[in-house]
Amino acid sequence: MTTDAPGAIPSPNIWTDPAVYEVHNLALDRAGVIEATILRLAGLDTWAGVDVLEVGCGTGFHVASLARAGARVVGIEPHAPLVELAAQRISGMPSASVRLAGAAATGLPDGRVDVALARWAYFFGPGCEPGLVELARVVRPGGVAVVVDNDATRSTFGSWFSLAWPDYDPAAVQRFWRRQGWHRESVQVAWRFTSRPDFEAVLRLEFERGFAEALFAAEPTRTTVDYAVNLWWRRF
Ligand SMILES: C[S@@+](CC[C@H](N)C(=O)[O-])C[C@H]1O[C@@H](n2cnc3c(N)ncnc32)[C@H](O)[C@@H]1O
Repeated sequence: MTTDAPGAIPSPNIWTDPAVYEVHNLALDRAGVIEATILRLAGLDTWAGVDVLEVGCGTGFHVASLARAGARVVGIEPHAPLVELAAQRISGMPSASVRLAGAAATGLPDGRVDVALARWAYFFGPGCEPGLVELARVVRPGGVAVVVDNDATRSTFGSWFSLAWPDYDPAAVQRFWRRQGWHRESVQVAWRFTSRPDFEAVLRLEFERGFAEALFAAEPTRTTVDYAVNLWWRRF
């Protein structure tokens, strides 16, 4: 499997260094606030028996964790090398699968899933309309879709993100989701690294080198970051 699916948006962090992106995933939200919030928005008490689609699943980190929690999970991912890594991760997990596809054409039947989610993938505001049409097709009536993304207006991470990407306009993104009829749930999680080298490796992956080095100089001992997250969501 060598060719990406149509519409793949380059994701320099996980495409360049999936091993360091794994460190990011391990460090972010160890308390499980995001997954618990998605469950609550979906009106569920447990993942057991729930049909889940993860759009842009990368190396399958969350596909595997949701399957371990009892969900039946399909991950789609358009970047072929990541599909290989995800397939290796879920090997031997009968309730998890992964396929090469993009958000606009998942290949799933109509009304196939109870919960669709995307974490920092494809649904960043204007331009993701084809994926929204696809979500409306594959989520069953009464099911829920949730898009997890940065909230650049709050928290330490949000302030770093705003400084690093000054052209990013959180108000425009919010207007986009409101126009689509989606709601916002704001949460705050911790990005908690087990070592300073891990913290620095992930920040070098997320930010330009000079920006990261300036942060390290300003914050010489930090290994934990408060991180604000928006969960954009809709019931179908
Ligand atoms: C920042 S990574 C997040 C990966 C994963 N959701 C996670 O949290 O570990 C963004 C992912 O979105 C994927 N992506 C890029 N274009 C996409 C598209 N058109 N449809 C779905 N996913 C896409 C990338 O290949 C990448 O794996």
